[in-house]
Amino acid sequence: MKKVRAVIRGIEGYLPDYVLTNQELEKLVDTSDSWITERTGIKERRILKGENMGTSYMGIKAVEKLLKKTDTSAEEIDMIICCTVTPDMPFPATANIISAGVNASNAFSYDINAACSGFLYGLATASQFIQAGTYKKIIVVGADKMSSIIDYTDRTTCILFGDGAGAVLLEASEKEKGVMDFYLKSDGIGEDFLHMKAGGSRRPASLETIQNKEHFVFQEGKTVFKYAVTKMADAAYEVMERNNLESKDIAYLVPHQANKRIIDATANRMGIGSEKVMLNIEKYGNTTAATIPLCLWDYEEKLKDNDNLILAAFGGGFTWGALYLKWGY
Ligand code: UT7
Repeated sequence: MKKVRAVIRGIEGYLPDYVLTNQELEKLVDTSDSWITERTGIKERRILKGENMGTSYMGIKAVEKLLKKTDTSAEEIDMIICCTVTPDMPFPATANIISAGVNASNAFSYDINAACSGFLYGLATASQFIQAGTYKKIIVVGADKMSSIIDYTDRTTCILFGDGAGAVLLEASEKEKGVMDFYLKSDGIGEDFLHMKAGGSRRPASLETIQNKEHFVFQEGKTVFKYAVTKMADAAYEVMERNNLESKDIAYLVPHQANKRIIDATANRMGIGSEKVMLNIEKYGNTTAATIPLCLWDYEEKLKDNDNLILAAFGGGFTWGALYLKWGY
């Protein structure tokens, strides 16, 4: 019997209309366009505005477009995974809300919280259900409304993040393409350096937590940078090596978009030039679980059947990893 793999049949994304530029941030905090550009590579990011608009709103938009584009009816979908750290609410899962929103009445769904590595964890998980023969069509959504947990008076974090969603349709295929291999890691040591202090079961919301601004992203940027710059590059290199891939075999690195300098270090380690690196950080900033699918969406027209892609991420947890994907169309 031939090995079944999970191949990407289509990709879509959704970005809110509102553009938050570096110039606008200069008016909010003590920062400058040149500092942000030089240290991160970010020029602008998108922000979801409006009452009662959560992460599911963007996820539903992306999935609706994906179903249309791939000519798939919602009833055909077996499973929906939503990767996010900004769920609409602690429960139900945002994936449940997205499923209902697109009428995926035969799908079961759940969320994965692996911060910036979420989409890689989601793709890997979905691919196993397909490889095992359990399911045939799975949608993986990477979506985050980071603006809902950002303190716009904290210049060390507010310049970094943006909102957005991306979604892929995975299908079973007997061809040698799709998700080929992955290397995923986590280490709880990361808690101290990147977290949200309150709003969970350890420290539920109270007047005090609100007054102390504990419902926002806390990041010790320098330490996270140090880990990210080695771990993301190591993971990408590991996946290349164990699949006998040389730099000439790689069509694109698809990196999590947290900092241009971390992306450059990963590309260096892989021995590939900037022409093989997907980059959109300047337009959207760090959209957490959405960065990788939004890159694939932006570069979709440049991709060719059988292109070898290395997806790589590092983020809160810490979580990190890389995934070898052979493009399927
Ligand atoms: O996606 C999840 C994983 N996250 C990451 O991968 C992020 C990893 N970290 C980073 O990307 C970088 O550490 C940052 C972009 C967050 C910060 O860049 P950095 O080069 O590490 O800067 P720093 O934190 O060492 O700060 C350097 C200086 C400090 O001033 P002093 O102490 O040297 O006087 C900061 O106070 O820059 C100052 N600074 C700023 N200045 C202008 C910090 N933020 C700003 C700002 N504008 N927005």
